Amino acid sequence: MQVTGKVVVVTGGANGIGKALCEAFYNAGAAKVVVADMDAANARAVAAMVDGAAFKCDVAQEKDISHVIEETERQFGPIALFCSNAGIGGGFDPMSVNAGGASDEPWQRSWAIHVMAHVYAARHLIPRMKARGGGYFLNTISAAGLLSQVGSPAYSTTKHAAVGFAENLAISHKADNIKVSILCPQGVDTNMLRSIPKGPQSGDGDLTPEQVAKDVLAGLEQETFLILPHPQVLGYMRKKTENYDRWIGGMAKIQARMREEFGK
Ligand SMILES: NC(=O)c1ccc[n+]([C@@H]2O[C@H](COP(=O)([O-])OP(=O)(O)OC[C@H]3O[C@@H](n4cnc5c(N)ncnc54)[C@H](O)[C@@H]3O)[C@@H](O)[C@H]2O)c1
Repeated sequence: MQVTGKVVVVTGGANGIGKALCEAFYNAGAAKVVVADMDAANARAVAAMVDGAAFKCDVAQEKDISHVIEETERQFGPIALFCSNAGIGGGFDPMSVNAGGASDEPWQRSWAIHVMAHVYAARHLIPRMKARGGGYFLNTISAAGLLSQVGSPAYSTTKHAAVGFAENLAISHKADNIKVSILCPQGVDTNMLRSIPKGPQSGDGDLTPEQVAKDVLAGLEQETFLILPHPQVLGYMRKKTENYDRWIGGMAKIQARMREEFGK
């Protein structure tokens, strides 16, 4: 798809990758870029830069997502592209004392933001998109959803679930001309990455959010399901499926090195 002349919504658009997506869509001639984020001040600032609109929205709340969709379509017209991009990096423990963690809180929060937010967007947009003959979802996930995130079971698990949902979204609605892309980078230089200790996610170099946004525009143009700003990830996926046990062993070695480093 081309975003030129289209109405686009970006959740988590106030900072980082989402902000760069908003700028890239604006520069590519989108008719309206809607920034939906809990961080209302930065959402307004980004919206002002891209001649867009801002909504304060907690993507974990279904009513917030349905409000953004309804109001966007009422004010600006049909949403051609909905980007579920908001995410959190909580629950990181480099020592991985217990993969089950100590409480439900980081699991439930990650589940709500990384998975249910994508489900709510689909629930409220699919009927509208079906009625008008198509649409596009871009879901920002992570290479952690295809591989793993050592030290963060809640992040890895919910990002894997997000891949599962996106696959099903694409399968269920291909016949409705509804397209889906998943964005799965490794390290990207944003507040989220800076909030966790440096680890294997940065092994192939951290990208700028602007570079990732460029890759997204190219991926949307080609309408590929998988958008991999770090092309190395495809090789890691192949290695994982080729020999799962060897792959688990390699990841466990990374975990052991991490424990050594952070246990000092
Ligand atoms: N930075 C990386 O290395 C990296 C790598 C792979 C995937 N990702 C994914 O990219 C996405 C964007 O992350 P980022 O790196 O730009 O981080 P970021 O912290 O810079 O931006 C995340 C944005 O999401 C918003 N947000 C968080 N929870 C929200 C909620 N409940 N409702 C609405 N908005 C909410 C924040 O306010 C913020 O503006 C996330 O889904 C993240 O998991 C990031």
